Amino acid sequence: MRVSYILPSVTLLASAFLSSVKASEAITESMSSHENFIVADGYGPDRWGCSFRDTQVHESSDGTRITIGKDSDLKPYSCGELIHRQENLGYGVYSIDMIASNVVGQVTSFFLIANEDTEIDIELTGYNTKIGWMNIWHDRKQNPISINLPFDAADGWHNYSFEWRKDFVTWSVDGNVVLNRSDIATTPPDENNYRLAINSWTQVNREVNIHWAGHFKYPEQGTPSAQFRNMRYRP
Ligand SMILES: *[C@@H]1O[C@H](CO)[C@@H](O)[C@H](O)[C@H]1NC(C)=O
Ligand SMILES: *[C@@H]1O[C@H](CO)[C@@H](O)[C@H](O)[C@H]1NC(C)=O
Repeated sequence: MRVSYILPSVTLLASAFLSSVKASEAITESMSSHENFIVADGYGPDRWGCSFRDTQVHESSDGTRITIGKDSDLKPYSCGELIHRQENLGYGVYSIDMIASNVVGQVTSFFLIANEDTEIDIELTGYNTKIGWMNIWHDRKQNPISINLPFDAADGWHNYSFEWRKDFVTWSVDGNVVLNRSDIATTPPDENNYRLAINSWTQVNREVNIHWAGHFKYPEQGTPSAQFRNMRYRP
């Protein structure tokens, strides 16, 4: 599958720059509580056709569920995003368990982000839940690679992770390395404020990325949703 252009999933985090950098600490979140997260509310890139609403992000005993709603007053749909409160994250291993949405046009993603600068992403799209997109966004360019998954990402929990180092990024699925890249640069952690986030959003533009996520239409039945649990970071 060839993708010529994927739009960046840059979000509008409040503080992009910090003058001093603390050593990062480990993160362990079951995601049953959102106490240590910022729940995005009331914004979202226009091109996604959805705005983040805190009402779309649900706590449960089995982690977090993000649903797509039809009742947005800002955009056609409402969607959800959680940003961990810990700032200045550094090199190390980042992981999460996810169940992707299988609704065409809905994206389920886990990403490390230094706003407007660098992103390391794992994105699952409802267009094809038998592949996972491993991406680095840098120099305003997407560099996605699709990985065939030995399962359907919408059928159950699986562990997705990446190890970020100075000279390479290695992605793993259920503990097996699936990709190792040293051809794309990332801005070093002491030069920007990296934060960890999840989101689920809708691809509504008919022309763009149609073979990546597909075009979202609200299903006749059921509520489109994505699930997340066990977010971890080991410096
Ligand atoms: C997910 O995978 C990462 C990297 O292999 C590992 O460190 C982490 O413990 C795993 N998480 C769970 C919940 O199994
Ligand atoms: C990934 O590539 C880097 C640089 O070539 C290498 O140092 C590292 O050991 C590789 N990691 C894995 C898991 O293969």
